[in-house]
Amino acid sequence: MPPVPFIDLSRLIPEIREATLGDWTECLDRCEFVGGPRVTALEGELAGQLGTPRVVSCANGTDALIIALQAAGVKPGMKVALPNLTFWATYEAVVQLGATPVLVDVDAEDLQLSLDELRSAHDAHRFDAALLVHLYGWASARLSEIRAFCKERSVALVEDGAQAYGVSVGGRPVLADAAFGTLSFYPAKVIGGAMDGGAITMQTAEAEALVRSLCNHGRSQHYSYAHVGWNSRMGGLQAAFLRRVIAHTPAILASRRKAAAWYRDRLASESRVRTYGPPAGVEENGYLNVLTVQGKTGAEVVAALKEAGIGAGRTYPETMDAQPPAKGVAIAHGDLRVSREICERVVNLPLFYGIREDECEASVSALLAAV
Ligand SMILES: Cc1ncc(COP(=O)(O)O)c(C=O)c1O
Repeated sequence: MPPVPFIDLSRLIPEIREATLGDWTECLDRCEFVGGPRVTALEGELAGQLGTPRVVSCANGTDALIIALQAAGVKPGMKVALPNLTFWATYEAVVQLGATPVLVDVDAEDLQLSLDELRSAHDAHRFDAALLVHLYGWASARLSEIRAFCKERSVALVEDGAQAYGVSVGGRPVLADAAFGTLSFYPAKVIGGAMDGGAITMQTAEAEALVRSLCNHGRSQHYSYAHVGWNSRMGGLQAAFLRRVIAHTPAILASRRKAAAWYRDRLASESRVRTYGPPAGVEENGYLNVLTVQGKTGAEVVAALKEAGIGAGRTYPETMDAQPPAKGVAIAHGDLRVSREICERVVNLPLFYGIREDECEASVSALLAAV
């Protein structure tokens, strides 16, 4: 068996190559470099797929978080809660706005932000806003309760959907009802671009106008400024590529979901590993295979898998509170035990659009030999 990569982006390219090259030629001929009709068309198509009334594109998923938090009212000196288990960008966005992160543990079953911990963190620290991350390609079993809790306590809520394109909860796309949601089109995401890219979803025309302005230097007119904003815009080449990718959304989701479920079924009776997946009522997008190992650390198992030619990953090997820039800056709430334990034990097997069953089988065989 040849090596199995952790991610192989090349499997989609033959399906969009011709059409994309045609689009790119037109973009070059029309100099559609920043903004333009393809960006507008993409935003409309994204709104349709995400079930949200409004979508604004931007330069990457990290900017999307910063701008969504700013639009939601986060200011220097405020406190913002976020899960201790997430990608570093979630943490960075809070600090870049001059706010203080309050790190909250995750639920031991669905690995998403724990509502019980969020409640006690609010009692203890009275944070002003919260960042809910829909991690690993699914979402919290308690999403509607988390939203209701934030509303009840007047906590501004931003939902990081970087890993959640195509996830639905109770039959509705996960960001459909988010006050503010964010996406990343980093190439390895479920819907990946030809370069960095991102988007922000929101509900009202007022919020959309604010976000559009913040993404474009806080402009009110070309050389008049209503806010101190950012330069975070998408161009035609990226929008054209993304439109070709999102036209394949059903096939991408079907392939990923099939592999994610296949891994869980195949490993269900193995006592040496524990697999994770969406809670009842949540439909996953197949972003990531997530399992934990016992007896050995995740790092040891991944090293053995790599030795066997299987490109395994560890999402994530360390929590937010373990990062040096968080020391003395972030407020760590409670013992953060679950997130730390997951980081110690987590292993991800290869999972990408177009992965074959023999590749999944080879990955599982190597895993079982390694644990
Ligand atoms: C949960 C999460 N939030 C934010 C980001 C940041 O997105 P980007 O890399 O597009 O800036 C990512 C991905 O990279 C992510 O996985």
